Amino acid sequence: MNEIMTENTTMKIQTVAYSRLAEVDFNHIPFGKVFTDHMFQADYYDGAWRDPRIEPFGNLSLSPAISSLHYGQSIFEGMKANRDSEGNALLFRADMNFKRINNSCRRMAIPELPESFFMDGLKTLIKLDKNWIPTSEGSALYLRPFVFATMEHVGVKTADRFKFVIIASPVGPYYGHTVRVKVADHYVRAFRGGTGFAKAAGNYGATLLPMEEAHKEGYDQILWLDGYHFEYIHEIGTMNVFFQVGDTVLTPSTDSGEILPGVTRNSAIQLLKDNGYRVEDRQVKISEIIEAAENNNLKDAFGTGTAAAIAQISSIGYKGKDYILPPVSERSVSNFLKRNLIGIRTGEVADPYGWVEKI
Ligand SMILES: Cc1ncc(COP(=O)(O)O)c(C=O)c1O
Repeated sequence: MNEIMTENTTMKIQTVAYSRLAEVDFNHIPFGKVFTDHMFQADYYDGAWRDPRIEPFGNLSLSPAISSLHYGQSIFEGMKANRDSEGNALLFRADMNFKRINNSCRRMAIPELPESFFMDGLKTLIKLDKNWIPTSEGSALYLRPFVFATMEHVGVKTADRFKFVIIASPVGPYYGHTVRVKVADHYVRAFRGGTGFAKAAGNYGATLLPMEEAHKEGYDQILWLDGYHFEYIHEIGTMNVFFQVGDTVLTPSTDSGEILPGVTRNSAIQLLKDNGYRVEDRQVKISEIIEAAENNNLKDAFGTGTAAAIAQISSIGYKGKDYILPPVSERSVSNFLKRNLIGIRTGEVADPYGWVEKI
């Protein structure tokens, strides 16, 4: 066991005696099922986050009474590290994920994480498991920080013990194809005053049944709407959404707190605006998108997210009819973002914003 001083934290590091790296077939990696040699952990007790440490990846031993299992006090983040041509690990806008994880913590009554635990945990783990970062096109090391209540108490009450863990998983492309979305017609993902803006575990659990039903109908994802009017567009599963209507790029505003403010969304808006595209970040009605599709004025539609990067939408199912989008070769906005946003993340395109950090 080593004890190291990282930038800001004293961290115990126990490395594996034997790496599993050679056992992984990097040409066929299923998303989120293969994990690197190590994981980061810290615990909250007696009023503070304590004991930051890195250990071999392995099972956790926990009481069946821990409150997160019963009441869902559990949140997470998702981010990716890439490797550039010189072998450096590249991390994309981790400061935004840090802010967002603490916004999620606040909403779920979880004590906020110290920046040093989040950043040093992430970077130390990436450095240790750097050789696990895949380099083929569309692949990356997916990083999953998460926090959950570990108080042993069956009673609806804010917990006083929590665990913060970061695990890492080499992944290939999320979608190898365009996506068919179905507009939600009776299920709702988020509502005013709820937890839509947070990466709360329960937000995702509640979408699994609707997703299964949509899959049976031949769709890949659901395009969620607001739950009052079934009119204002929110987002897609694990992605924010953009549409090009005529010359204007539209994306639903996150102001109402019902939509997750995506790091990819924020980066896409900035890149588009800086490159002369007209972007409107405002409430977007499904009726205006359908009307544009009927008038052949819907030029592009795509989801943005860490996992999928830019996922081009091939059709939108609404009230029993499928609206087909133009072929991907004709999509100027999403193809521009695929080249430039993914390029910045992977180090192939110059980063004028300082978004990418070499680890
Ligand atoms: C519900 C939801 N919306 C949008 C996104 C996209 O966010 P980001 O670009 O930060 O990955 C995600 C993924 O994190 C998500 O889970």
